[in-house]
Amino acid sequence: MKKGLLLIGCGNMGASLLKGWCAHKSLSGPFWVVNPTREKVEPFMGDARVHYVADPNKLQETPQVIICAVKPSRVSDVLACYRNLIAPGSVFCTVAAALPLSYYQEILGGGLTLVRVMPNLPVAAGVGQSLYCGQSPLLPHVQRQVEQVFGGLGKVLFVSDEKALDLRTPLTGCGPGFLFKIIESFARAAETLGVETEEAKSLARDLFIGTAKFLEQSTKEVSTLRQEVASPQGMTEAGYEAMDKAHLDALIESALLAALTRSHAMEKEYTHAG
Ligand SMILES: NC(=O)c1ccc[n+]([C@@H]2O[C@H](COP(=O)([O-])OP(=O)(O)OC[C@H]3O[C@@H](n4cnc5c(N)ncnc54)[C@H](OP(=O)(O)O)[C@@H]3O)[C@@H](O)[C@H]2O)c1
Repeated sequence: MKKGLLLIGCGNMGASLLKGWCAHKSLSGPFWVVNPTREKVEPFMGDARVHYVADPNKLQETPQVIICAVKPSRVSDVLACYRNLIAPGSVFCTVAAALPLSYYQEILGGGLTLVRVMPNLPVAAGVGQSLYCGQSPLLPHVQRQVEQVFGGLGKVLFVSDEKALDLRTPLTGCGPGFLFKIIESFARAAETLGVETEEAKSLARDLFIGTAKFLEQSTKEVSTLRQEVASPQGMTEAGYEAMDKAHLDALIESALLAALTRSHAMEKEYTHAG
């Protein structure tokens, strides 16, 4: 009988997912985790549902859902040994960016239900966004399974196809990294104005946390809040003008576009490598 989850790769994203699942008591487990460095899994092994798997060939049970969280560049060599290990009917989810489902089909063979999921780092805190799509048609019971696995980690959104997933990945998948970079910029800017380094970092960090919590509680549009917080000819408005003059929108657009362009290049690089 199939049961539980098999997580392949416990790096930044795999560990974020595992942290989210461990906090989610209604998922019954087991969570089998394969990762070359055992130390990355050990912090989670206090949870009785988590089991370290040194060799996937020796796994006695048949997982219901398999989640692949290795780097796109490693997918092909890592998954090669799973071709005969994944039982027909199991749901195989990959969180790797850029690689199309057809690539997994080539590596793993037919008869599997393949799903691409794009989670983001806040899944670790149960407030992530996980977008997903599958080989069409994705059967309702598969959708239910994916939503059950990722649902406790934040919002889960079905998107129509892989193109739609790739288009949204620069915003939701890379977005936490972009926001971290912006927080650092705020801290550095405050430092330039004369605030001491550690204090500037702490103020900038708390600013983002506080604003996110405030936003969560507000029913207003972001643009309304942005207008309301600035008095005409006041300090904040002067800052907005400087941001517009420095083409903030164009800057953010260029970051998302660069990420999307890189995703297309990675797809070519890795799918044509073998
Ligand atoms: N980071 C994000 O915010 C984010 C967001 C969305 C999607 N993703 C996707 O998530 C995937 C992983 O990214 P990441 O940032 O978590 O990378 P990462 O930190 O490098 O994690 C990759 C993990 O895969 C493990 N691994 C290597 N060979 C393996 C094998 N044969 N079997 C099992 N595990 C193996 C590595 O273990 P060792 O270190 O022990 O070698 C490492 O822990 C990528 O495909 C990425 O596109 C990431």
